[in-house]
Amino acid sequence: MTHTAVNPMRAIILFDSKTTGGSTDKLIDSIGRELAETGAYVEKAKCKTTGDYSFVKDFDVVIMGAPIYYLLVSSQLLGALIQSNLKQYLNGKKVALFLTCGSPELMANLLYLPQLKMNLVDNTILAEKIFAPDQLSDLSIVQKYVHELNDAYRKETH
Ligand SMILES: Cc1cc2nc3c(=O)[nH]c(=O)nc-3n(C[C@H](O)[C@H](O)[C@H](O)COP(=O)(O)O)c2cc1C
Repeated sequence: MTHTAVNPMRAIILFDSKTTGGSTDKLIDSIGRELAETGAYVEKAKCKTTGDYSFVKDFDVVIMGAPIYYLLVSSQLLGALIQSNLKQYLNGKKVALFLTCGSPELMANLLYLPQLKMNLVDNTILAEKIFAPDQLSDLSIVQKYVHELNDAYRKETH
């Protein structure tokens, strides 16, 4: 049973990537599809450092994800967190995080996830995941992430 019928979760995927049709795009499509199958309403938006993020207030969950380039979370997402009004509109929001990168998961957890999390200290993080290149085509890994996110959301809202 999902929280579908009466009050579906509204999720926005905020992402950045320098490539079109690359790992991040594919991952977002998989995550979006899986979430939608559990009954959620899902939209996606590509980040710009200077964007206006007031639309975030219309969503229950903000999923943020990007690749790593040269040891840093892709610049438009990181830039938006630091320079735009995104943080203001994330106030009190439940969030979920994912990164795509070539490094081993342990290293990525230590080096890369904190770049996002240090900007989200007041948020509830429902799920976080590093997707290595070989995991991107493994649907069961995406499903596990979405399941974890849904579970945590249900616990937070019931
Ligand atoms: C120019 C460039 C720099 C990269 N730097 C890193 C890095 O510092 N650490 C890492 O773990 N992966 C690094 N990667 C791997 C990417 O994070 C990984 O391939 C990611 O899935 C690319 O996402 P995209 O297809 O959406 O661009 C780099 C890839 C490229 C192309």
